[in-house]
Amino acid sequence: QKLKLSLEQIEKGGYEHFMLKEIFEQPKSIHDTMRGRLLVDEGVIKMAGIWDHVERFKNANRIIIIACGTSWHAGLIGEYLIEEYARIPVEVEYASEFRYRNPIITDKDVVIAISQSGETADTMAALKLAKEKGAFIYGICNVVDSSIARITDAGSYTHAGPEIGVASTKAFTAQLTILTLIAFKLGKHNGNLGNAEFMSLIAELDAIPKRIEEVLNATHEQVQEIAKDFVETTNFLYLGRGYNYPAALEGALKLKEISYIHAEGYPAAEMKHGPIALIDENMPIVIIAPKKGHYDKIVSNVQEIKARKGKIIAVVNKGDRQVSEMSDYVIEIPETSECFSPIVASVPLQLLAYYIAVYRGANVDQPRNLAKSVTVE
Ligand code: G6P
Repeated sequence: QKLKLSLEQIEKGGYEHFMLKEIFEQPKSIHDTMRGRLLVDEGVIKMAGIWDHVERFKNANRIIIIACGTSWHAGLIGEYLIEEYARIPVEVEYASEFRYRNPIITDKDVVIAISQSGETADTMAALKLAKEKGAFIYGICNVVDSSIARITDAGSYTHAGPEIGVASTKAFTAQLTILTLIAFKLGKHNGNLGNAEFMSLIAELDAIPKRIEEVLNATHEQVQEIAKDFVETTNFLYLGRGYNYPAALEGALKLKEISYIHAEGYPAAEMKHGPIALIDENMPIVIIAPKKGHYDKIVSNVQEIKARKGKIIAVVNKGDRQVSEMSDYVIEIPETSECFSPIVASVPLQLLAYYIAVYRGANVDQPRNLAKSVTVE
């Protein structure tokens, strides 16, 4: 009997698609991204790119994060992280908007570019513009020696390994890992993050790969079952607050990219300014509701959805009662400090998008009309 395996099958390592393989690689890719940087026992975050230019960061008027797509969502979470822990003002811009709007930028600004491929044309052009105006440019790229990595003044590579699936998964969580390290490092350095809190946060960060593994094991089969109920659905809403608002945007983007279902992410409190008009028994709403992070407010959002008969898929912490009791589907994730919840909550949302797309017969790894790296405007 001949055993025939194509090169592609070998590369997929037993998974049906690259995307699923990459989702499952996240405990390792996050660990690899922290390796050599996060030294928990010594209580140190080592990042040469930051350390060598720490005065630029410390004296920056503001940090401007520039990116596209999923990387832009990572940037939004970076804003929450850096403002909370390092207390440096942050703005997040779509590269395509930034480059064409005659932005005010000086040599007191620090620009952080986030790009998995390091080749995105709009991001590249925005960086060239910022560089001309004297800003200091820091890169967060996954592809070593890529064009963006080469024009930056300094940077940190995400060590996520090659990402083949067009919809970004492990590169996204690796970007969040780097942004978390940067926020903690700057906060520690400029005195906004006290030693005790720093030590407890880095210990928690160190254990995130383990948390992700738990989430994968606990939710994989359950999410497959949930996905079966939404194969025919035409619209989805994703809601979250605080750190999990960008996680809601990213969850919605994953679903639309690969399943071609229309999905919108919203900050939960903005629901009343529009999306609430869409809610009826045919509208599924994914709501990210961990304990830490405006939980009471989320509870009232869930009540409002329930009153309008929306179908609620809630991502909650283990042991949650209030939101779970009102929800049609409950996905449990471990409780973490608020700043880590988007990393952990993103994993079941990636799986949900993946399985809905698979059951719809879509080409998950190469969705129609999309490219892995967009090198044209
Ligand atoms: C494309 C990809 C997305 C990605 C975006 C930004 O649209 O399909 O997955 O998020 O480009 O790419 P970058 O490589 O700059 O992160």
